[in-house]
Amino acid sequence: MSSVVIACDGLSKCFTDIHRGETIVACEDISLCITRGEFITVIGPSGCGKTSLLYMIAGFEAKSGGQILVDGKPVTGPGPDRAVVFQEYALFPWLTLRRNVEYGPRQRGVPRALIRQQVDHVLSVVGLQAAQFRYPHELSAGMRQRAALARVLVNQPKILLMDEPFAALDAQTRAVLQRELSRLAVEMGLTVMFITHSVEEAVLLGDRVIAMSARPGRIMADVAVGLPRPRDPTSPEFNGLRRTVDGLLAKASANLVDPLGNFG
Ligand SMILES: Nc1ncnc2c1ncn2[C@@H]1O[C@H](COP(=O)(O)OP(=O)(O)O)[C@@H](O)[C@H]1O
Ligand SMILES: [Mg+2]
Repeated sequence: MSSVVIACDGLSKCFTDIHRGETIVACEDISLCITRGEFITVIGPSGCGKTSLLYMIAGFEAKSGGQILVDGKPVTGPGPDRAVVFQEYALFPWLTLRRNVEYGPRQRGVPRALIRQQVDHVLSVVGLQAAQFRYPHELSAGMRQRAALARVLVNQPKILLMDEPFAALDAQTRAVLQRELSRLAVEMGLTVMFITHSVEEAVLLGDRVIAMSARPGRIMADVAVGLPRPRDPTSPEFNGLRRTVDGLLAKASANLVDPLGNFG
């Protein structure tokens, strides 16, 4: 069996600007393969179609052209195999943390005893057992983002699609969550696509960093990060990669990218 989990081929997304009657090409000709257990990070200037790409893989948005296969099957809509985590944590404010995490399995009619087991497990994985009876407004931002993660992990997805999930967190909380996500993804054998604005975060978390050009977003470069985990952001190797990705991003933002996708 092939270990390719997500395969995009010549994928594109257009929007119609109803006010101007123009077509906006959000991303274009995206060809990308992600294998089982791989953690890829995606970086690129604002508006280059990163979220659009993630939404097409999630099945939230229809593609305009090309093809997306997940586990060999065309994506026709959202599915339990793909979990999405946003920058704004999606928690019900009127439910306790535990009830929030229980929500998915309850909806699916999982037997109560099994729900209890699964929820206990996932709360311990994200380190939130002690806070389980609190309401979202009683949690710190970092705890809320952990809770959002618990809420999707309890559904045992194979793929985690994350759209700048840590962008609103303070530096310290962010560093803790980065480390935990990195460990958790390996332990749970998750395939992860993680969008970020931070070059450091992209290099810290990714097995590969995908750099996209300014709109219409295309893949400019696919940089392999061959460093052992946990990574040391102060090491010369790490800084070398950071410089490479920084350079790509600067080029993309300055619109200096050759339209054929050649650079450097
Ligand atoms: N629903 C929509 N309708 C019209 N234009 C959209 C819509 N969603 C995104 N766009 C446009 O598509 C482009 C890419 O957006 P997005 O995928 O959100 O980029 P990114 O996540 O990289 O910032 C932007 O120019 C944005 O304005
Ligand atoms: Mg976005």
